[in-house]
Amino acid sequence: MIGSSQSFLEAQRVIERFARCDVPVLIEGETGTGKELAARAIHYGGQRSSGPFVPVNCGALPDALVDNELFGHKRGAFTDAHIEQAGLIAHASGGTLFLDEVDALPLKSQVILLRFLQDHQYRPLGAPESRHADVRLIAATNADLAERVEEGEFRLDLLFRLRILVVTLPPLRERDRDIELLADNFLHVCAQRFGNGDKVLHPATFDWMYRYDWPGNIRELETLICRGYLLSDARVIEIGPPDPFISDRCQPGIVHLQPASLYGSLRQSEAPAMLAHEDFKTAKSRVITEFECRYLADALSAAGGNVTKAARIAGKERRAFGKLLKKHGLAPAQSAFDGPLR
Ligand SMILES: Nc1ncnc2c1ncn2[C@@H]1O[C@H](COP(=O)(O)OP(=O)(O)OP(=O)(O)O)[C@@H](O)[C@H]1O
Ligand SMILES: [Mg+2]
Repeated sequence: MIGSSQSFLEAQRVIERFARCDVPVLIEGETGTGKELAARAIHYGGQRSSGPFVPVNCGALPDALVDNELFGHKRGAFTDAHIEQAGLIAHASGGTLFLDEVDALPLKSQVILLRFLQDHQYRPLGAPESRHADVRLIAATNADLAERVEEGEFRLDLLFRLRILVVTLPPLRERDRDIELLADNFLHVCAQRFGNGDKVLHPATFDWMYRYDWPGNIRELETLICRGYLLSDARVIEIGPPDPFISDRCQPGIVHLQPASLYGSLRQSEAPAMLAHEDFKTAKSRVITEFECRYLADALSAAGGNVTKAARIAGKERRAFGKLLKKHGLAPAQSAFDGPLR
C-alpha cells in the first residue's frame, strides 16, 4: 500500500497491528479509499496468510441468494439443488472471508452472520445440523453503520460484534502529498502493463489535483492516470480535472444536455428541432438514457460517491440503483486496471 501522509501512516500502523490479532475487523472509508487492499494486507500480514482470502461483495448479491452463497446448501434443499454445494464460508476455512459492503446484507442474513461470529457455527440451507468453520471475518463499508442501525437496516448486535477492531481509511483529499506518490505509482504500473514507456505528469496537473475533492478517491485517481497514459503519446502528460464529476464516464457518444433540458419539459424551444431527425422510439430512448445518466451522476456527486446514500437520495432500492449505475457504466466499484476504460 502506497502513502506517506500522516493520516495514511496512522491507518497503516493500525492495519499492521490488527493483522496480528485473529479477531473480526471492520474497515470503514469512502469509496475507493483502499478498503479491499487493507483487508488483503490484514489477511496476508497475519497467521492465516497461507489460507484462502475469499472476497464477497454483499451489495452485488441478490437478497434471495445471499444465504445460499455464504452458507451453501444440501442436496434437495430447494427445487434446483441437485447436488450439495459449499458456501463461501466453507471455502474460506482456515483463512479470511472479506465481506465488502456489509451494510447491504439483508437483515435475515445479518442474524445468521451474527450467530457465526459468536460461535463459528452455521447451517447450510436444508442441512439438519450446524457446521463449524475456522474463518476470520473482515467487513468493509462506506456507509455510516450507526445511521443504518437507526434506520432499522442494520442490526445493532451485529454492529457491536463487528466493531471490535475498526480502522478508518482516510479520503484522498486528506492525504496531501500522497497524490503525487500514488500518481507516480499508477504511471509506472501503466508503463509496465501497456508498454508505452515511462511518462510523468506535467506540473500543471498537480495544481488542480491538490485542490480537487476526489469523491472517488484513489480509484478515481487511478482511472484518470490510466486514461491519461493511454490517450497521450507524449512523455510529459497533462491531465485536466474531471468536470463535472464522473459525467464523462457516461456512455460514449452521448450528447450532454444542459440540466434544464434534461429535467425540464420537452416543450422547450430547442426540443422540436432536436427531435425532428429521429423517430419517436429512438428519441425517447436517447432522452431517457441522457436523463438517467445525468441524474445518477448528480445523485452520486451529492452523496460524495456513496452508492447507498445516492440510492436513498434517488428514493430507489440500493440494488436496483446499483444495476442502473452498471447499465450506464457509472458503477464506482471497478478498478481502472480491472476492465476497459470509458
Ligand atoms: N494505498 C494504496 N496504494 C496503491 N493503490 C491503492 C491504495 N489504496 C487503494 N489503491 C488502489 O485503488 C483502487 C481502489 O481500492 P479498493 O478496491 O481497495 O477500494 P475500496 O475502498 O474497496 O473501494 P469500494 O468502496 O468502491 O469497494 C484499487 O485499484 C487499489 O489497488
Ligand atoms: Mg471494495
